This record gives sequence, C-alpha cells and structure tokens, in this order.
Amino acid sequence: MAIEEFGIKENVVGRSLKELEKYGTEGTGYFGKVLMSSGERPVLGSKVLIDLTSPHLILICGKRGYGKSFSMAVLLEEMARLPLSIRQRISVIAIDTAGIFWSIKVPNKENVQELAEWDLKPQGTEISVLVPRGRLEFYKSKGLPVDGAFTIKASELESEEWLALFRMNWNQAEGVLLSRIVEEVREKLGTFYGIEDLITAVKQDPEAEKVAKSALVNKLLFALRWGLIDKEGTKIKDIVKPGKITVIDVSAYRQTIGMEGTKDIIVALLGKKLFEERMLYRKEEEIKLVKGEKRESVMPIVWMFIDEAHMFMPKDEDNIALKVLLEWVRVGRQPGLSLVLATQRPEKLHPDAISQCDLFISHRMTSQPDIAAVSALRPSYMHQGFDKYYSEMPKSQGYALIIDDNTEKIWMIKVRPRFSWDAGVTASAFLT
Ligand SMILES: Nc1ncnc2c1ncn2[C@@H]1O[C@H](COP(=O)(O)OP(=O)(O)O)[C@@H](O)[C@H]1O
Ligand SMILES: [Mg+2]
Repeated sequence: MAIEEFGIKENVVGRSLKELEKYGTEGTGYFGKVLMSSGERPVLGSKVLIDLTSPHLILICGKRGYGKSFSMAVLLEEMARLPLSIRQRISVIAIDTAGIFWSIKVPNKENVQELAEWDLKPQGTEISVLVPRGRLEFYKSKGLPVDGAFTIKASELESEEWLALFRMNWNQAEGVLLSRIVEEVREKLGTFYGIEDLITAVKQDPEAEKVAKSALVNKLLFALRWGLIDKEGTKIKDIVKPGKITVIDVSAYRQTIGMEGTKDIIVALLGKKLFEERMLYRKEEEIKLVKGEKRESVMPIVWMFIDEAHMFMPKDEDNIALKVLLEWVRVGRQPGLSLVLATQRPEKLHPDAISQCDLFISHRMTSQPDIAAVSALRPSYMHQGFDKYYSEMPKSQGYALIIDDNTEKIWMIKVRPRFSWDAGVTASAFLT
C-alpha cells in the first residue's frame, strides 16, 4: 500500500495501516518492484517492501523453476540486513531440503549487470549452515562452507517418532518391539542413552522373535551410521540465536532409501521445541509488560523457512512434522512464530497452510489442480480469478502475484535479484 499521506513512497505489504503509521518502513525488507505493464518488455515501478517484524504465515507457490527458492533467499538476505535493534529480537531458521541456501554466503559475481540495473551490488550474507553430524566430513570434503554439525538427542524421540524415523508402524512386529524397547531403555537409563543402548536392549530382549530382532538391529545400526542421533543432542539455544540466520541442511538423506524419515524428524522436533519454548517465554514477556517493564526475553521470536513444504505438510498422508507445523499455522502468531512455506504443489499441501496464510506470493502456475487449490483463498477484494492473473504474468522467472491480507491488496511484482550467488542451478553437481 503506497501511503503518501505518511510520506512513504514505497509500497509495503504485510503491514496494517496502523502499523505503517506507527513504524513507517522500518523493519521491512526490499522484496521487489511493482510491475507496471507486462508484455514483451515489462515495465517496473516503485519498490515493494515486506514486513519482517510481525508474525506472518507466508506461502510461496509457483511451478518448478520460477523462483520460489530464489524469493526465499531474497527474504533471508533482507532478514540479515534488518537494523540491529530489530534483528536481535529475531531468530531465523531455514530448512533446506535441496542443499542450496549455503550460497547466500557468497556474493553474486555473475549477476553484477542485473544487480546494477536495480542499483544493487553483489554481497555475501552472514548465515550459519548446519548439517547432520554424520555428513559433516562429506560436506567439508566438497569444499562447501559449512559452519557446524547438529545432532538430535535420542531421549527426546518418543516411540511414535522412532517409528516415523524408520517409516514403521504398529502393525509390524519390529514396530511393536521398537516401541517397547524405547520405553524400557528410557525407564532404565533416563534421558541419557544412545542408539547403542537400544541395540543392546533389542539383542537381550527375551520375548521377541529372532527375525524381528535382527531386522530392527539392522535398522538401528543403519541409523547409527547417519550420525544424526546421539546421547547429547544439539541444544536449541545453540541453534536459535538472536539476530542469527541458521540454515539446517536436511538434503543429505533425501534420496537414500530408509532415510527419508530423517528430515521429517528434524523439522518435527525443532518445530515442537521452538513452539514450547516460545509459549513459555511469551508468558514471561507478558508478565514484564504487565509490570510496566520492557517486553523482552532471552528467547527471540522465530521465523522458520521451509522449502518444499508439501513434503512436511502433506494433504492426504501423515507426516510426523505435520501436527507440529499445523500448530504453528493455527496459533503460532500469538507466541511470535512465523512461517514461510514454499511449494510447487499447493494441491498436495495441507489446506490449512493455504487458508491461514496472510501473505500469499505466487510465481507462475499452470497446473489446474494447483490453481484450484489456491483458489480457495480467493478473498473478497480479489476482483478476477487466479487464471486471469497467471495469464497476465510475464512468462520469465521472478514475477509474482502477491495477495496481502493485511492491506487487502493485490500486487503483481518482480522479485529483486539476489545479492548472493544462486546455487539452485548447480546444486546437483555437489550432491552426486
Ligand atoms: N527474481 C528473480 N530474478 C532473476 N532470476 C530469477 C528470479 N527468480 C528466479 N530466477 C531464476 O530462476 C531459477 C529458478 O529459481 P528457483 O527459485 O530455484 O525455482 P523454484 O521455484 O523451483 O524454487 C533461478 O536459478 C534463477 O536463475
Ligand atoms: Mg526450489
């Protein structure tokens, strides 16, 4: 919304009129420019800024290769450039399913020309990239700029989560055995045990059948090699740091059979802990406010970016991360939890993730089922169908339709070029 009466020339999305009056453009990020006219040579107009200070549910859609991950990278670059006073209240976590966001660190030398046309320059951005511990050496050997490793604490996994990890269920003998072993070991060892302890317990189990036992031991040995789960686990406060952007690379096990469940577990546990901690701190903040003190606490508000969100929040399947993420979607804004979800398959995404979003950003879409899925959004201030918007959108990458519930306005924009190098185009070379 261009608010000339407040002396603001840019357009701000995600911020209500009241907030604009109070805060102006402070705490917004430069996302792109308004598309004035499409056609052969699209004409761009004034800047579009996006609010990064209040909690939001942002959904980024679009067919493959049209700029979803790119737009996420632009938002991450902007989060890193917020004024320090604001940045210190925010912590950003990006779940990287394709292993591409590390390149936000590297200035975009190949795109100097396009950046110059936007009056911008190549720049690196300070982010911290964490990979599962078992994959750290691999990443380092490839020369990727990784900052550290993370692990999950074994005792934090409930039996339900162990089952999800191996994609097992209660109907299988191994599944039943696994749940029983987890409970037994927990009772015996408390909160300090590892996969080795589970293996020993399975081997010593007097009741289970031999076949189920050896099948389960094999699975656990496999998991041991992943190097993801250990006795200690990375502390949440080492991941969620005020003013920091942390990329959690979950791409490592993506194509390995038997390991598909790992990325789900990582998101589920992280999402659960962040939710619980923010709920607690929110209370502390409220109490301070009641006492007339400043609303501050050690736990920053959190933005979680999830690329390829349909993997974690599927519509017709179950996923261990789904329940947690639905909590974020439904009530996360109250404790200060924002989500930025990207998907090329809105049709496969849980409908709540679509209906609850307050900022909808869509790159080009052509598949009718996907367009039909987002059409559920169609707000009263939208005067033409989605099909019409998509047909008017220039066919090259980076253009997007924005539907902003905060201002009840609709925009057609071009997302700005990245300051950083785009690994999306070459990531496969590193992963093979
Ligand atoms: N705003 C943009 N400006 C310039 N090029 C873009 C823009 N958005 C996307 N692209 C180009 O399109 C390619 C694919 O974008 P990407 O974000 O990886 O697609 P996806 O939607 O599949 O995540 C990028 O590698 C980049 O070359
Ligand atoms: Mg992508």
